[in-house]
Amino acid sequence: MATLLSRPTARKPFLISPDPSMLYMTPTLKTTLYKVDFVVENRQGLTLIMGDAGLGKSSVLRLLLSRYSAREETVVTQLIPTPAFSSDFMFLKAICAEFDIPGRRSMLAQLNEFRDYLMDLHSKGKTALLLIDEAQKLPGKQLEMIRTLLNYETSKEKLIQIVLAAQLELRDKLRDKTKKALRSRVFAPSLLASMSVGETKDMIAYRCEQVEIKNPFTDEAIELIYTKTGGVPRQVLQVCALSYDMGQRAGVEKLPMEIVEMAAQEAIYIDDLEDE
Ligand SMILES: Nc1ncnc2c1ncn2[C@@H]1O[C@H](COP(=O)(O)OP(=O)(O)OP(=O)(O)O)[C@@H](O)[C@H]1O
Ligand SMILES: [Mg+2]
Repeated sequence: MATLLSRPTARKPFLISPDPSMLYMTPTLKTTLYKVDFVVENRQGLTLIMGDAGLGKSSVLRLLLSRYSAREETVVTQLIPTPAFSSDFMFLKAICAEFDIPGRRSMLAQLNEFRDYLMDLHSKGKTALLLIDEAQKLPGKQLEMIRTLLNYETSKEKLIQIVLAAQLELRDKLRDKTKKALRSRVFAPSLLASMSVGETKDMIAYRCEQVEIKNPFTDEAIELIYTKTGGVPRQVLQVCALSYDMGQRAGVEKLPMEIVEMAAQEAIYIDDLEDE
C-alpha cells in the first residue's frame, strides 16, 4: 500500500529548526536578502531585520552566514546567536573573540585591537560582517557599542558591516531619543511579514521537494492551515509536522481534512492557551 512513510534516513519536511536549505524565498525574504547584500557590498554599515516571533529571522541569519562564509576571500562573517553579556566590555570582548582578535584588559586597548584588525582586513580588500540574532536583548550600552564600532570607517565606507535581527521591541528601543545616533545609522531596515495563503502553499510544496516526498496536503487543507495560523511560518510548520506524522501513522498518502483539523487543534500556540 502507498503510504506517507518516508525513507528512514530522510530529512523531516516540517521541523522548525532554522535550516537555511528549508527556507522558501518569499518576495519579502528576497527583498530582505537584497538589502543586506547591498549594505555589505557597498559597505554601508548597519541594517536590521525585524519581525514578530516565528517569521524567519534566525533562519535568514543562518542563510546569510552560510552564503557569506562561502565568500571568505572578501568577507569574514561571524554570528552571535543570543547576546547575553553582562557589560558592554564583555560584549566587545565576545565580538573580538569571534573574529579571533586577542583579548585586552581595558576597553580602550580592546577597541584599538579591533580597529587595527578592521584596518588590516580593509588593506587586504576585505570587510568584516557581524550577524547578531535576538538583538532586542541588547541593553542600551551594548547598542551604544555597536554605534562605536560603526565609527570605524574610511572617507568612503564602513569597516564593519552589522546585521541585527530582532523582534519589534528593538524598534521601540531605537525610537528612544538617546538612540538617535544609532537609529540614524540604520540603512534600509527590513520588516518580515507572515505569508499569504499562496506563499503558505508554495512553502509547503518547496519543503516537500527538498526532502523528496509527495506533497500530502490538498488545497483545502492548506487553506485551513492558513486560517488557523495566519501564515506565520513557525505555526504553519507545527500544524504540518503534526498532520504529517498523524498521516504516516494512519498510512495515508493524501491527508484527510479530519487529520489536519485535529493537528491544527493540537498545534495551537502557547499564547492561545486559556486558563482552565
Ligand atoms: N520562508 C520560509 N520558508 C520555510 N520555512 C520558513 C520560512 N520562514 C520561516 N520558516 C521556518 O519557520 C520557523 C521559524 O523561523 P525562525 O526560527 O527563523 O523565526 P524567528 O523569526 O527567528 O523567530 P523568533 O523571533 O521566535 O526567534 C523555522 O523552522 C524556519 O525554518
Ligand atoms: Mg529567532
